[in-house]
Amino acid sequence: MVDSSSFETLIESPVIPVIVLSEVQLAIPLAEVLLDSGLTVIEITLRTEVAMSAIRLISEAFPKAIVGAGTVTTHDQIVLARDSGASFVISPGISKKMCQAANSSYLPFLPGIATPSEILMAREAGFSICKFFPSEGLGGVERLEMFAQIFPDMKFCPTGGISEANLESYLSLASVPVVAGSWIAPEALILAKDWVEIEARAQRALEIASRTGKA
Ligand code: 3PG
Repeated sequence: MVDSSSFETLIESPVIPVIVLSEVQLAIPLAEVLLDSGLTVIEITLRTEVAMSAIRLISEAFPKAIVGAGTVTTHDQIVLARDSGASFVISPGISKKMCQAANSSYLPFLPGIATPSEILMAREAGFSICKFFPSEGLGGVERLEMFAQIFPDMKFCPTGGISEANLESYLSLASVPVVAGSWIAPEALILAKDWVEIEARAQRALEIASRTGKA
């Protein structure tokens, strides 16, 4: 059985920026601006060749950063992420193999779910928090309200289509301690090195979160 409370205790900030990074030299300035803005938990998706190097660079340069790997879909990626300095791993989905791999690597794991059956699978594997993905495409807040009635013991990190426009409605749900999304630092802003705009988005996200009492 996995004790996924370790993921919850890791989550110092209610908003996790989801990063797609294609230029490794941008890892440090990006992490710096996110950390300075108060976003201490950062998800680097394994969608680019430099993702593992970026995780290593950030975790070594900023010991206070909680940097993890996202878009993790195989056992080998979990092991590599751990060896690269990741503090957690996030998957878009859930499988027995992935749960076992996370368990044996001792890494906090956030499995992705979309249906009640997958929530059951996650709960049976010992998880109390899951990524709800892709949230907006699956009914968003309304679907989470339904899940809360059926699974009052479960918490969710909605991801997929979260933005400044709907952040408050998500974080207002008791079952949602944290959300994740790419809107704070989308790839185009990173490549343009628009740190000012990324900082402004991070600060606005935390302001919205504080209105819900979660920041
Ligand atoms: C993810 O990898 O978690 C999602 O692609 C993030 O979704 P978003 O880009 O809609 O925020």
